[in-house]
Amino acid sequence: MSNTATAAPHAAAHTATKRTILMCRPSHFTVSYRINPWMHPDAPTDTARALAQWQRLHDVYEDLGFEVSVIDDRAGLPDMVYAANGGFVLDGIAYGAKFQHPERRPEAAAYMDWFAAHGLTVAEPHEVNEGEGDFLLAGDVILAGSGFRSAQASHAELARLFGREVLTLTLIDPRFYHLDTALAVLDPEPGPDGDCTIAYLESAFDAPSLATLRERFPDAIIASEADAAILGLNSYSDGRNVVIAERATRFAGQLRERGYDPIGVDLSELLLGGGGVKCCTLDLHGAHLEAAR
Ligand code: ARG
Repeated sequence: MSNTATAAPHAAAHTATKRTILMCRPSHFTVSYRINPWMHPDAPTDTARALAQWQRLHDVYEDLGFEVSVIDDRAGLPDMVYAANGGFVLDGIAYGAKFQHPERRPEAAAYMDWFAAHGLTVAEPHEVNEGEGDFLLAGDVILAGSGFRSAQASHAELARLFGREVLTLTLIDPRFYHLDTALAVLDPEPGPDGDCTIAYLESAFDAPSLATLRERFPDAIIASEADAAILGLNSYSDGRNVVIAERATRFAGQLRERGYDPIGVDLSELLLGGGGVKCCTLDLHGAHLEAAR
């Protein structure tokens, strides 16, 4: 392996896996309401710039060999670009989102219609949940965030639906209101011994959640406040290549030390809505998609 000579002891050879993802073009992106501390409706946004930055992310994914689908965006739904919130898809089942804030509620049906039209089995949610923004598959376990958006009751619904262990993690800092703003999964497919590396910001979690994370993921990368404060953790990995905010330079170094290849992108415009790389990316976990019906 070419990179093992310089790599730190933790570093192993990482294998990239082909990802199947869903994205949504930000043609109608703006900040017209405030549902997280990042959003300032009085400050200007530049939709053309958002589109150009998003296109670059999309092209990076295609260059990595991902299968990228794009859902039609809808006028009047400026946050629809954050596709991670559109649901949680695993084993061909799409657990629909049920948004907490009325401004985003119509997005749920748009995404569920897309899932159904592409051959996924849609499970209508009973509990408030914001999809992969709060639910991240880490090995065999689903890490589930709560505290600001997804209700804890949705974690039980998720466990019943997918028959997997669900670990509840409570977020306490309003800047990190979705789990994917405070925690990143670096190995989307578990390694041979079932291990999975994650990265997270300690101060984003309450004490019991932090104890759980330390116990279950003793080798995790601990991110810096500076990187997290520009949503650097809001990143997406194929197991070797990790697409991150280019300003998250410390995180990039930590990733390199562990044998990952960070790829920096600039999504500064989408940060105005409180989202980054991962928010724009919904992992379909290898779903076999049918042509739209
Ligand atoms: N403005 C959106 C909201 O507050 C941003 C969503 C970001 N998505 C994410 N997966 N963290 O709901």
